[in-house]
Amino acid sequence: MTNGTIINPLINLNDGSVMPRIGLGVWKLGSGAETVNAVRWALEAGYRLIDTARIYENEAEVGEGIRASGIPREEISVTTKLWNDDQGYEPALAAVDASLERLGLDYVDLYLIHWPSALFRKDNPDSPALRRETWRAMEEIQQSGRAKAIGVSNYAINHLQEMDTYARIPPAVNQIELHPFWFRRDLMEFCQERGIVVESYSPLARARMLADPRITAIAEKVGKTPAQVLLRWNLQHGNVVIPKSAHKERIEENARIFEFTLQDEDMRVLDALDEGKSVLSV
Ligand SMILES: NC(=O)c1ccc[n+]([C@@H]2O[C@H](COP(=O)([O-])OP(=O)(O)OC[C@H]3O[C@@H](n4cnc5c(N)ncnc54)[C@H](OP(=O)(O)O)[C@@H]3O)[C@@H](O)[C@H]2O)c1
Repeated sequence: MTNGTIINPLINLNDGSVMPRIGLGVWKLGSGAETVNAVRWALEAGYRLIDTARIYENEAEVGEGIRASGIPREEISVTTKLWNDDQGYEPALAAVDASLERLGLDYVDLYLIHWPSALFRKDNPDSPALRRETWRAMEEIQQSGRAKAIGVSNYAINHLQEMDTYARIPPAVNQIELHPFWFRRDLMEFCQERGIVVESYSPLARARMLADPRITAIAEKVGKTPAQVLLRWNLQHGNVVIPKSAHKERIEENARIFEFTLQDEDMRVLDALDEGKSVLSV
């Protein structure tokens, strides 16, 4: 995998593959031109990672944006996710095929279990057996080449410890909400110690805290925007970031985070913003 026009380093995964340190998140980008354009702009700006999910209902548009970019498929890392009502062995195998068909791709680079429980299934909201069966399918999906890497999302430490009892292949990635207002250092370090890459979602805290004076002060000091400061903080903690934007100029802005460094004192100020819980309401 090569990089685009921005400096975009890669991170090693525990299965020997690599993924870019920044990607475009496409949750809430609409079906149709909005997603196609955002994906195309991101790829033109040098992004090489796109993060979608079945539940975002824009996998087809992600595939269209990739093809419209003219960039070779093998240079782009595509993530999609297994939704809660597709948990279980047989449903998971069918779900990845349906996602690939919508994407118009032969494989994804990363396939994630979106949530540790079938949250919206009345019959079995939190079942270790269901998680085990789903992971068995994920391992088969990787072995069949339909996903280069497999991982999880929204897994807490107890879910990851539980995987020790059944996983033959460990997860390569845990995608979790992580930004200065919900730092989750224990979970982050647990993953890092086990070689699981932390991929931070909502890394801009959904733009709700960009005017916080403690962030704007650092942004002014380093001559960057508050969004760039938040993303850089995450990178310096060793994580992958997947900011979402529908706007070309913001997509470009969010990627310019590799040419500056936050000093330790600024990192400490940002670390201290932690409120110990999600600041977002879905
Ligand atoms: N695994 C999961 O359960 C899960 C859950 C949530 C999210 N995710 C993934 O993570 C991605 C990112 O998270 P997110 O979408 O929740 O939130 P986010 O990336 O933290 O924030 C997105 C918001 O920030 C705005 N924004 C983007 N760049 C900006 C900039 N430079 N200046 C000012 N505002 C800016 C966007 O507005 P505009 O679009 O109008 O620019 C949008 O309102 C998602 O798209 C999805 O791929 C995964």
